[in-house]
Amino acid sequence: MRTPIIAGNWKMNNTVSQGLSLVEELKPLAEGSRAEVVVCPPYTALHPVGEALQGTNIRLGAQNLFWQKSGAYTGQISGPMLKDVGCDYVILGHSESRGRFGVEEEGMTEDLSQVFGDTDASVNRKAHAAFEHGLTPILCCGETLAERQAEATDAIIARQVQQALQGFSADQVRQIVIAYEPVWAIGTGEVCESGEANRVCGHIRSTVESLHGSEAAQAVRIQYGGSVKPDNAAELLGQEHIDGALVGGASLKANDFAAIVNAAR
Ligand code: PGA
Repeated sequence: MRTPIIAGNWKMNNTVSQGLSLVEELKPLAEGSRAEVVVCPPYTALHPVGEALQGTNIRLGAQNLFWQKSGAYTGQISGPMLKDVGCDYVILGHSESRGRFGVEEEGMTEDLSQVFGDTDASVNRKAHAAFEHGLTPILCCGETLAERQAEATDAIIARQVQQALQGFSADQVRQIVIAYEPVWAIGTGEVCESGEANRVCGHIRSTVESLHGSEAAQAVRIQYGGSVKPDNAAELLGQEHIDGALVGGASLKANDFAAIVNAAR
């Protein structure tokens, strides 16, 4: 049996004091949950939030890392730094870090979207660094609306998963979390229909199986992400291949996030 994992991706939200109030509210609501619970604050709030979570069942995750341990890499944060502040998880290859925006951002041009430059290769390198420093990667994959309309979803997902997992042993793959996040469903309120989300998560599992065997494929946890809310969580989490959720907007409200956590069976 795979333990469900519900992770809250706060993105670029919450100052230290806002983050602390949110977790104080969340702690009693998430107590005794069947699912593993993770919150991923922005870098600036990781340390105080991590301290506030000590002795609770809520784990800490970061939203990215850089693969080098230390050095002249202005603006970057390394695996050892994340481990030092108490992180167990790190989100890697989120579409927003790859510059794959599904909605028209005000003033966003192709040139500017390159600021967020993750590629399949950098995601793979970051995932290796995560393991090296004792962090579990939450590897994101997902197609844009144009790719879905061109019926390229399955090929895009298989490519992202294959490349992200390059060079890992089956034993490492068992521990990884993969998040299927259709870009068009992120922050849009447009959730992927549960049957289709399950089908794509099943496709991810078969891709893992073809690369690393059935034991790894049965063990790997696959989350769905993209407009998960209290009112659609139970339906999504009830699907065979969906082992959890990566939650953006709804993770910023303690009651909503707790309702999603408690919808996991
Ligand atoms: P959303 O974001 O729940 O706000 O759609 C999900 C994500 O990007 O992880």
